[in-house]
Amino acid sequence: MKLKTALVSATILAASMFGSASAAQLVVGFSQIGSESGWRAAETTLTKQEAEKRGIDLKFADAQQKQENQIKAIRSFIAQGVNAILLAPVVETGWDAVLKEAKEAKIPVILLDRTVNAPQDLYMTAVTSDLVHEGNVAGDWLVKTVGDKKCNIVELQGTTGSSPAIARKKGFEEAIKGHDNLKIVRSQTGDFTRTKGKEVMESFLKAENGGKDICALYAHNDDMAVGAIQAIKEAGLKPGKDILIVSVDSVPDIFKAMAAGEANATVELTPNMAGPAFDALDAYFKDKKEPPKWIQTESKLYTQADDPEKVYEAKKGLGY
Ligand code: AHR
Repeated sequence: MKLKTALVSATILAASMFGSASAAQLVVGFSQIGSESGWRAAETTLTKQEAEKRGIDLKFADAQQKQENQIKAIRSFIAQGVNAILLAPVVETGWDAVLKEAKEAKIPVILLDRTVNAPQDLYMTAVTSDLVHEGNVAGDWLVKTVGDKKCNIVELQGTTGSSPAIARKKGFEEAIKGHDNLKIVRSQTGDFTRTKGKEVMESFLKAENGGKDICALYAHNDDMAVGAIQAIKEAGLKPGKDILIVSVDSVPDIFKAMAAGEANATVELTPNMAGPAFDALDAYFKDKKEPPKWIQTESKLYTQADDPEKVYEAKKGLGY
């Protein structure tokens, strides 16, 4: 009798906070940033697959890299009365108003892969990696690899104002701090795309004595690194040897480059953010269990010593 009363109260409490739904009937809106990188494409594929596997009706909206499109999509999900919303926020700021609207409509919002600068009570949880740690791992690898040698670094940043661009920069700078032989000499956004990565690397090469004064490239994602590798080759230098390359994501193409000796290290970011997000929603709607505010995914370093050919074969069919 006591248990029954507790369950009824929990149901009422959950329903009053975020509306009520059983997992089998879940309708979930997903506001995706766009398709700027191989990693993003894989996240989209896996989210759709996970939803299908679980019988979730997923309403997908591609924002084409624009925050205003994401805000519109969220408002449309609210108007449709979805049970929950997944949001991969393109930038960190400017979300308070729309998140408040979702909260008022009792629709829980889960952040995927990026964080926001907004009060924590405006979203249910965030499924992300430790983005600063990713920068630390990349920086530590470079510190160990160059030893005492003087090393001028160029940096390709992700989308300006996005949490991975801010945090990966911070983490890398933390790691090289105190190692005076390592210095970031140029840093610019490549917007997480191959095309921009190549374009910006071309300008870095020109500005740095045809690339002869560059010892290493740190790219906030693999796609920009792949674009930069092309630029380095076109400039007549050997990527991976003349210029060391370290980046983040672990998409199949970077393993291809590593197998060819043209890239050196990558920090893995899982594209399966939706799995833990749907688990959290399931536990919430079935058992009224509130998830922690942060569901952290792993960050693993791969180097040329990790059989890149094999990793490429294992990853290539996974939606990247
Ligand atoms: O938010 C995750 C980042 O977004 C990935 O590292 C990058 O490839 C993507 O575009």
